[in-house]
Amino acid sequence: MSKIPTARIDKLLSSLGYGSRSDVPLMAKMGRIFLDGKPVRDVSQRLQLTDDLSSRLSIDRQPLDPLMGMVILMHKPVGVTCSHKESGALVYDLLPDRWGRRTPALSSIGRLDKDTSGLLLITDDGPLLHRIISPKRHIKKTYLATLDRPLNGTEIDIFASGTMMLNGETKPLAPAELKIVSSHQALLTITEGRYHQVRRMFAATGNHVTQLHRTTLGGLALPDTLAPGEWTVLSPGDINLIFA
Ligand code: URA
Repeated sequence: MSKIPTARIDKLLSSLGYGSRSDVPLMAKMGRIFLDGKPVRDVSQRLQLTDDLSSRLSIDRQPLDPLMGMVILMHKPVGVTCSHKESGALVYDLLPDRWGRRTPALSSIGRLDKDTSGLLLITDDGPLLHRIISPKRHIKKTYLATLDRPLNGTEIDIFASGTMMLNGETKPLAPAELKIVSSHQALLTITEGRYHQVRRMFAATGNHVTQLHRTTLGGLALPDTLAPGEWTVLSPGDINLIFA
């Protein structure tokens, strides 16, 4: 059996962004931290990092935030960027402020363009992020594309061919599946994550994507109940669905 990791309360709370290592003893002194219903005085005590910790440890009477290794599923709205560096509205601004101070930091798993909406995953788990974006895994991503001009009927075969070449690239695209929804809409499933891939694929057929929305990633679908800008923390079972 693998050993359950432990952490000091002060180290844990500062890693989760509640305050610096020197803030946490002051928070305890003020009676803001409770463990199993009793105020915490000694923030050097070590706790086992088990999943029930969020129901046992509270800060300002609120359950502890999810531990490290969390995965967030967000309905990314149009107009926000998946980057820590750019100016303007970022996907991270839609999360609690404190989560911006977590270590390890949260990062999006792959990127959606500023103008793309839909299913976006965000995590602090680097190895998991790399497993999901690894080209070797061929994880499927489906996009609903709305087009400027009617589909011309050749796209299904071109995208499925495995020989389609994007401008400026030397390696053909892996086969992709196109399902026609209407004259100006189609669902495209790809297994790669090249730069602006979906928009460039339609551009190569003489069309132009006017709206792009990601509906699924692996075995996960964007829930209808999640409005643009809303998000949820995935359970371990949901995380496994990514690889299903
Ligand atoms: N393909 C694109 O062109 N844009 C995205 O945001 C995702 C896939």
